Amino acid sequence: MTGPSDTPFALTPGLDAEIRAAAETLVRARRAVALTGAGLSVESGIPPFRGPGGIWTKYGEPPMDGYQRFLRDPAEAWRERLSPREDWMRALGEAVRDAKPNPGHLALAELERRGHLAALITQNIDDLHRQAGHVQVLEIHGNHRLLRCLACNARYEPHAVPIDPADLPPRCPQCGGVVKGDIVVFGEPIPADVLRACFRAVESADCMLVAGTSATVYPAAEFPYEVLRAGGVVIEVNPDESELTRAATISLRGPGGPVLSRLLEHAAALTPPEAV
Ligand code: APR
Repeated sequence: MTGPSDTPFALTPGLDAEIRAAAETLVRARRAVALTGAGLSVESGIPPFRGPGGIWTKYGEPPMDGYQRFLRDPAEAWRERLSPREDWMRALGEAVRDAKPNPGHLALAELERRGHLAALITQNIDDLHRQAGHVQVLEIHGNHRLLRCLACNARYEPHAVPIDPADLPPRCPQCGGVVKGDIVVFGEPIPADVLRACFRAVESADCMLVAGTSATVYPAAEFPYEVLRAGGVVIEVNPDESELTRAATISLRGPGGPVLSRLLEHAAALTPPEAV
């Protein structure tokens, strides 16, 4: 496993002591919430967006008017979705399609099962938290597998909406509205229901475990500061410094898989079996 400047990751005694302190903080928290980003899925073979090997670094960020272009011509947007012409869309699509949850996703799901995480907000559209068995997942940027009606906001599994390439865009089985992929594209407002649920989760949290995000995209990047302003603590997991590092209460420098797995081990050791 590689870390900052590609040095192989080593769980040094110093880092292990920091992870143990973070586990104590997490286990002691009244209500902890997690926030994750693309970095958590790097070990599942999905590139991040920014930094070395990032999708935007490689292909450039797409134009900010993706949503306006969808509204102007939803049929054309659907033709693009069904056979992507954009290199970044194909690259991301292929990486997400073949990806499986990694030890980082599994450790977070187990922390939830043990009662140490009340909710998880993810910026990732890759569905890997759900596949890892995480239950309380808030996908603030949507889920690549799902479809969403722009009129009634209903979400659908792909097979639930008939898609006829000769008759695009597909329509909502409930209200007849235009159906779009659930992924929140550039320029699109975050769906009100998931945003409300994220704010509710953040407002009630006294601890936020942040893993694999550059903390540069809002509104998600604001959430850790909300917790800090309310007197709570923030634990960051990232092999490199991020926008959040200076403000974080504890910043664990390492990749998500091994660091979150070790955090889980310490949390388990700190929790009497009858409490699980
Ligand atoms: N484990 C943990 N973190 C990692 C790992 C790893 N193995 N590898 C890289 N990282 C870190 C990087 O250091 C970086 O800080 O993950 C972060 C990834 O940052 P971004 O690529 O900016 O991803 P993210 O923060 O999720 O981007 C937010 O931007 O483009 C939009 O919609 C897109 O949801 C995305 C949003």
